[in-house]
Amino acid sequence: MQKALLKVENLSFKYDKEYVLKDINFELYDKDFFAITGPNGGGKSTLIKLILNILKPQFGTIELNNSIKSSLDIGYVPQNTNINLDFPISVLDVAMMGNGSKHNTLKRALNINYTKLEIECAKNSLAKVGMQGFLNTKISNLSGGQRQRVMIARAICSHPKLLILDEPTSSIDINGQKEIYSLLKELNRDITILVVTHDLTVISNYANRVLYVNQEGFLHNLKQDRFRVNKDEHFCEVELMQMLGKNGGQN
Ligand SMILES: Nc1ncnc2c1ncn2[C@@H]1O[C@H](COP(=O)(O)OP(=O)(O)OP(=O)(O)O)[C@@H](O)[C@H]1O
Ligand SMILES: [Mg+2]
Repeated sequence: MQKALLKVENLSFKYDKEYVLKDINFELYDKDFFAITGPNGGGKSTLIKLILNILKPQFGTIELNNSIKSSLDIGYVPQNTNINLDFPISVLDVAMMGNGSKHNTLKRALNINYTKLEIECAKNSLAKVGMQGFLNTKISNLSGGQRQRVMIARAICSHPKLLILDEPTSSIDINGQKEIYSLLKELNRDITILVVTHDLTVISNYANRVLYVNQEGFLHNLKQDRFRVNKDEHFCEVELMQMLGKNGGQN
């Protein structure tokens, strides 16, 4: 039996008095394309912050496999990456930020040059997301979809084993969304993907497992026939969301 990359057990969390997450259980395996969905305010971003150790649970455990113990082993694209568009920073600069830790930020502040290796790493990750032709372009001059590709490049710069994305296509048009998800599918050959999305088409086309989170969590294995969506079939999002919000898909 394959060892889980991440194991969440009996996890409960509250910011104040009310529990935002109650008794969440799931495991993430190597090369999973794992989706987290659920209504606004359901607790998805909170769960991601708990996994990233930004927040601490009141109850339960989050166990990381040894292969993802270092913060550089997890790439993260947060929800609503609000960039100050007046800040004169290039595409290459943004990707470079993914190279390392505080050390790296300090380098920028002190205006110390990056090493050749760091520059090569950033260029390689920009090439992986198809942005190699924009190295010196100001980040503010990119489209939303292109900017999001650069954020993904930044997140994969340190060669993470796990890439976590919180609603990566929320402000991107349909074609841009498709492009980002086929990029993620490609990256998924080497990297485990954990993505928060409201897009059920994405879930049915790309994910192998999905966790529906609305305070409680319901885990579903999408390889099961009942979730398979026929291309000619009318796709009813409401019905699928109702199916996901029920137990019974436990694998
Ligand atoms: N820093 C905070 N302090 C107090 N309450 C918070 C904080 N952040 C989130 N919450 C509350 O926790 C609940 C879950 O929020 P969370 O952001 O995790 O939801 P979400 O599922 O990511 O929603 P969305 O789909 O809108 O992104 C909400 O009721 C929210 O108001
Ligand atoms: Mg959120």
